[in-house]
Amino acid sequence: MTRHFLRDDDITPAEQIQILDLAAELKADRWSRTPLAGPQTVAVIFDKSSTRTRVSFAVGIADLGGSPLIISTANSQLGGKETPSDTARVLERMVSAIVWRTYAQSGLEEMAAGTRVPVVNALSDDFHPCQLLADLLTIREHKGTLSGLTVTFLGDGASNMAQSYLLAGATAGMHVRVAAPAEFAPAADVVTDAERIASGTGGSVAVLTDPVQAVTGADVVVTDTWVSMGKEDEKAHRVGVFGGYQVTTETMTHAASDAVFLHCLPADRGYEVAPEVIDGPQSVIWDEAENRLHAQKALLVWLLERAG
Ligand code: CP
Ligand code: NVA
Repeated sequence: MTRHFLRDDDITPAEQIQILDLAAELKADRWSRTPLAGPQTVAVIFDKSSTRTRVSFAVGIADLGGSPLIISTANSQLGGKETPSDTARVLERMVSAIVWRTYAQSGLEEMAAGTRVPVVNALSDDFHPCQLLADLLTIREHKGTLSGLTVTFLGDGASNMAQSYLLAGATAGMHVRVAAPAEFAPAADVVTDAERIASGTGGSVAVLTDPVQAVTGADVVVTDTWVSMGKEDEKAHRVGVFGGYQVTTETMTHAASDAVFLHCLPADRGYEVAPEVIDGPQSVIWDEAENRLHAQKALLVWLLERAG
């Protein structure tokens, strides 16, 4: 049966390990798998800007023997005249998988419900699950494990990154702490889902407002922009509200001495993170960016093996 990857909890803990193991294998031997040789095409659709996602999917699909078809919705019918489900019905006749960066999670769900080929969320307002596969691979490389580690996300708790950390971290058996101003807390249903997952994996979930309490003893410290795509009109308010959540060298002193720092990029140095941290010795952001390639290739191989 065709599987989709719309949220981090669309895969089980065991499946998450399978995909991360495959990503590590593909990182060690980049051209070892060519499931798309033929060639086959994967549609990669963008409603929002991108550098890493666009390049890593394009290169990854080519590595797997296929052809990436990069589509901007600014010059396609999707988002204007045509629904996600009608678009899906057309694309499935021609492509092997659909990757889509969009706004509403409901659009991705409609796309997936309307097609027999795998649909992958390349970032929505609610989740960024491909980024989390890369982040988990990076953390595992640097820490040797995921289960039992404490990861703290500081900043916009209602963002796609914070919410994906809750689901993916809980799936990995991590202790996930999110510290955010009360008005930017993660969605209650996402927290409930993460708690349910954590109860089965030995992980835990904590939503806090105090950044120092959240970061104390953490093995991994993460942040992201305070102004996600689509929120530009709120920038002045957000910069004011999030000011106390900047990851500084002082913040890092509360974390474990061997803690690593992650940021999905692009970064606003001097806002969510001080330059000394993101460009300092604890930062693993370049490995994290590279791992988008390996993690997404593994995801595509895994999904294509299961496509009906
Ligand atoms: N991290 C990430 O998704 O980057 P892009 O917006 O450049 O794709
Ligand atoms: N939270 C950010 C992530 C960018 C990769 C955004 O949605 O803009």
